[in-house]
Amino acid sequence: MYTLARKILFQLDPENSHDLSLDSLGAAERLGILPWFCPSVPRQEKEVMGLRFPNPIGLAAGLDKNGDYFNALGKLGFGFVEIGTVTPEPQPGNPLPRLFRLVEEEAIINRMGFNNKGVAYLAERVRKRRYQGVLGINIGKNKVTPEEDALKDYLKCMDVVYPLADYITVNISSPNTPGLRNLQFGEALKGLLEGIKEKQAQLAQQAGRYVPIAVKIAPDTEDDGIASIAESLLAKEIDAVIATNTTLDRSLVASSPFADEAGGLSGKPLMARSTQVVSVLAKTLSGRMPIIGVGGIQSGEDAVAKMAAGADLIQLYSGFIYRGPALIKEAAKAVALAHAK
Ligand SMILES: Cc1cc2nc3c(=O)[nH]c(=O)nc-3n(C[C@H](O)[C@H](O)[C@H](O)COP(=O)(O)O)c2cc1C
Repeated sequence: MYTLARKILFQLDPENSHDLSLDSLGAAERLGILPWFCPSVPRQEKEVMGLRFPNPIGLAAGLDKNGDYFNALGKLGFGFVEIGTVTPEPQPGNPLPRLFRLVEEEAIINRMGFNNKGVAYLAERVRKRRYQGVLGINIGKNKVTPEEDALKDYLKCMDVVYPLADYITVNISSPNTPGLRNLQFGEALKGLLEGIKEKQAQLAQQAGRYVPIAVKIAPDTEDDGIASIAESLLAKEIDAVIATNTTLDRSLVASSPFADEAGGLSGKPLMARSTQVVSVLAKTLSGRMPIIGVGGIQSGEDAVAKMAAGADLIQLYSGFIYRGPALIKEAAKAVALAHAK
């Protein structure tokens, strides 16, 4: 079914086809016909960050930036759904075109630039939530906010989403917001994490509920650098790390006509590097902090490899675009089978 839909959708401009698919999904959910199209995904309960996940396969951030579609997406069998990245103020993102399909390479290049309707809009959507599963909310900074004021943007978002989220992801790894990735290193990282932990403690007291914080990192740092980021996250008692965001590396897609498009590359060519990052994290953290592995998972086998590298949970994005909801079931089954062995 999805193979047929994909044939049609892939004829359209990528951003139009993205909007059309999500609108259709939302409509199917409202009409109550979505279960007809949903694969049944095996249960494989797991506790991570103090939360119970029905299965370890999640939807990665960026597909539902404003919280418009998570009720429908949550019905497709995902064990958790992450929405955002959302910023304090609405912003248009980069000029079009900003999304490119590298079909032969099973990859995507995007330079969306955090196009979103702002945190207040997303919060309104989440307040009306029907989805009962685990919901992560991914937060970022506005493009116009100077790098040295980044913390203020994260804190503004936390104030709004804390009472609504099951976990919050601090995104410091998008390549499409100038300077954002600098927050991953040294004093900038320490200062940011301190501010975020302080805010978490304050909000936990106000809300009477502890909401875990995950930090999402990029793959384009040497292994030593990844290990030192892991040490910093551990020292500041961050609750989880998400690895990885998209890559700037084009070495595996050099022959694509889109290779020179600016932005982050995701999908199959990202699998090896992002899995290596998970391995480095697992070695450094040795079980002291959960790892959410994301990047290049296009099959059940990839899902198993990501878990074997040390991921506690995994997320899909590009693979979901290329393979549709069938990939959720395939990944969950493969992981369950590997676990049983
Ligand atoms: C079009 C597009 C938009 C994305 N937007 C975001 C985003 O807003 N925030 C974020 O943390 N990651 C974003 N990502 C990154 C994904 O969440 C994921 O980390 C990355 O694509 C690697 O996984 P994949 O290879 O399965 O796609 C985006 C990815 C794509 C392809």
